[in-house]
Amino acid sequence: MADFDKDNSTTEAEEVPAQDTNILTVLFFADIVGKPGRQAMSHLCKQLREKYRADMVIANVENVAGGFGVTPEMSKKIFKYGVDVQTSGNHIWDRMDVQPYIRYEKRLIRPANYPSAAPGNGSYVFELFDTKVAVINVMGRTFMNISLDCPFRTVDGELAALAQDIKIKIIDFHAEASSEKQGMLHFLDGRVSAIIGTHTHVQTADEKVTAAGTAYIGDAGMTGPHDSMLGMRTEDALGRFLTGLPKRLSSASGDVKVCGVALKINKYDGKARSIERFRVDFDPESVEGLIENGD
Ligand SMILES: [Fe+2]
Ligand SMILES: [Fe+2]
Repeated sequence: MADFDKDNSTTEAEEVPAQDTNILTVLFFADIVGKPGRQAMSHLCKQLREKYRADMVIANVENVAGGFGVTPEMSKKIFKYGVDVQTSGNHIWDRMDVQPYIRYEKRLIRPANYPSAAPGNGSYVFELFDTKVAVINVMGRTFMNISLDCPFRTVDGELAALAQDIKIKIIDFHAEASSEKQGMLHFLDGRVSAIIGTHTHVQTADEKVTAAGTAYIGDAGMTGPHDSMLGMRTEDALGRFLTGLPKRLSSASGDVKVCGVALKINKYDGKARSIERFRVDFDPESVEGLIENGD
């Protein structure tokens, strides 16, 4: 029963906890899908950056262009919305114009275990004042049906190539199988700050920080329309299962959510302090002037 006699009014301003200067806060946005995902990012990325007092933002952009790949124009917009580093996955080559773009835009990375002749890089080192953060993108092979080098040996090679003074290492492991993702956690435990699973578009509730200081989530989810099948219009995607016939897929529009995780990492030893999942609703109708061209 409520205590109505108690005076709940406050006279002093609520105290804002002091920020620990040893800690770097990183936001990771899960696979952004189509126009609804881009609209949500345009409105919520900076808001969430402020809410979490994030020092750095990473987003997976493999589905930004109508669910299939990313165009240079769309990638540039995502940077403008407040993203510092963009990762990707098996859809990275869906748009031809990404090939010349990824050769010079080093802040957009592709899975490191594609053949070395593929354009672009599998890692990027983001510099923030006195702190360096290595972001590495690698793709799983189980159920992926793509010819790729071993993700485990590849990530080992990427880590070995990093300068000694880089303590913070964040892996976007783009993979289908939870077993392969957990395998990567055990393989890298204590050697990297975080392993964030992407690709399935379904957020998992298995986030944790290991005793050795590695943050992990099996899949960060999807930034896009959740009234869908993995972001695609249900009638088309379901039709594929019901008929076995190929069907052109396009991004859905309803129940838009922004999904991802917030990481807190010690700047000096690279150990993760915490990982927090977020899943925020977004109604495009509630915001005036949301301009996004294309699907
Ligand atoms: Fe995806
Ligand atoms: Fe994918």
